Amino acid sequence: MKTLVTIGRGGTGKSSFVGLMTKCFIENGQSPLLLVDADPDQNLSEMVGIDLKAEGKSTIAELIVKTFITKGGTTVGVPPTERIESKIWAEGLYESDNFDFLALGTKWVEGCYCMPNSALKGALASLIKNYRYILIDSPAGLEHLNRRIASKVDDIFDILDHSKKSVDHVKRAQRIAKEVEIVYNNFYLIGGYRFPSDLANRVEKSLNFKYLGKIASDKVLDDYVLNGKSLLELPSDNLAYTSVKKILVAAKYL
Ligand SMILES: Nc1ncnc2c1ncn2[C@@H]1O[C@H](COP(=O)(O)OP(=O)(O)OP(=O)(O)O)[C@@H](O)[C@H]1O
Ligand SMILES: [Mg+2]
Repeated sequence: MKTLVTIGRGGTGKSSFVGLMTKCFIENGQSPLLLVDADPDQNLSEMVGIDLKAEGKSTIAELIVKTFITKGGTTVGVPPTERIESKIWAEGLYESDNFDFLALGTKWVEGCYCMPNSALKGALASLIKNYRYILIDSPAGLEHLNRRIASKVDDIFDILDHSKKSVDHVKRAQRIAKEVEIVYNNFYLIGGYRFPSDLANRVEKSLNFKYLGKIASDKVLDDYVLNGKSLLELPSDNLAYTSVKKILVAAKYL
């Protein structure tokens, strides 16, 4: 079981990258996968062709409120971790042949939600044992990740765009990982679709992390996203898809 987290500035192509990784792993027979959408805007589900609302699924935030914050119910005496875990299985987790899906929903971290947060972490720790890969789309940042999801991950992918702020983002992510004590094995740099390839060497040297490659800029993918089509249905010779395959080969996943 490996946990892969994708981070980066807004609009760098994080969710698309997670969608394309999903396609790579499925087509390479590396399932079951768990996708975790940590973005309150919830774009990832559409990119992999699912509609959680239509499937009758709730976000983790909704389940947390239902389980711990709204009073009532008959679960008194059941430990918090078990309470939220059974809710997630029953009402949160979307299941399909190749991948399962969880959306975190809006944040509930403001205020004193230590109990729900740690209950959720416990529940997820037990739930994720069933999967080969956990792919987390994490625009909210590493601090939220540690508090609510996991303090230990395998690889972090930071997607760079064409601005200097991207480099600052990497530094900031590093600092935060240290501050909030997130443990990881690898911190990789990935060129987003707008990242100029000729900067790769310089960025790799100045940041001192391995650069895995660039996600190709691809009009077909952009049209799929615009029209709400599943990226899993992209043709297998699609430019962006094949570039992500190469990135996963460089990270030794394929
Ligand atoms: N490889 C690509 N080629 C061309 N366009 C792309 C590519 N990847 C993403 N895009 C486009 O860039 C926009 C942002 O993509 P995406 O939603 O994946 O980014 P994000 O980093 O997840 O954004 P956010 O920070 O809002 O969550 C979308 O319109 C998408 O179609
Ligand atoms: Mg996104």
